Amino acid sequence: MPTRAAPLPHHIAIIMDGNGRWAQRRHRPRIIGHRAGAQAVKRCVEFCLQRGIEALTLFAFSSENWNRPSEEVGGLMKLFLGALEREVDELHRLGARLRFIGERSRFDPAIQARMHAAEALTASNPKLQLTIAASYGGRQDIVHAARLLAEDVAAGRLLPEQIDESALSAQMALADLPAPDLFIRTGGELRISNFLLWQMAYTELWFTDTLWPDVDAQMLQQAVDDFATRERRFGLTSAQLRAPHPGNTP
Ligand code: FPP
Repeated sequence: MPTRAAPLPHHIAIIMDGNGRWAQRRHRPRIIGHRAGAQAVKRCVEFCLQRGIEALTLFAFSSENWNRPSEEVGGLMKLFLGALEREVDELHRLGARLRFIGERSRFDPAIQARMHAAEALTASNPKLQLTIAASYGGRQDIVHAARLLAEDVAAGRLLPEQIDESALSAQMALADLPAPDLFIRTGGELRISNFLLWQMAYTELWFTDTLWPDVDAQMLQQAVDDFATRERRFGLTSAQLRAPHPGNTP
């Protein structure tokens, strides 16, 4: 009998935590950890492309990260700009579509211009939907979507009773992608820290003590293998899943 292929996540969302500790353990400044983290981003993108994972969303900078010491924020901004200058052509060659979610207007105009150019260049690439969450917050994302719906109601384009989950979903970041099916957080903390709060309602969570700069294909494969063992019930019972009928699919 043919064996069934293990289910692969379509969309992986990652909190890349542990850069600072990785550097501190080496008695180096935190920015060295972020630089090593950027190399791990490349390994992660490579992994997704090789395994045929369609979407990858990375939490690079939260709305709260602006409050870090100005030296670290400045170092991260330089790193983002450098990565945008150096890596976009290669991502394009590999067939990745690059997009950014979050409060883009808070970034320096030079970074905003590079973000825009990268999105335009890669817009029709089919292989990997790569989203970088930058100055992003999950609560802010929900508030923004609610405000857009409120504007539609105020303008008479929408009735309050037409507001349902799908109307709100359509206004959220990543609305055109399947919801993340696997969430990974490195660095040992067991929380989702205001990441994709709405989008991760049914996402499988996977945590590891590995610090982000140490991430490699083997660790990512471990997460994907573990995902394959999960029973995703979406509120149904196991018995319902074993005897599916059309009404059972969420
Ligand atoms: C969290 O580690 C990481 C960040 C706030 C920055 C993430 C940035 C990168 C991975 C580098 C570049 C990314 C791109 C997309 C080019 P932390 O500093 O909170 O680590 P700690 O918990 O050990 O202090």
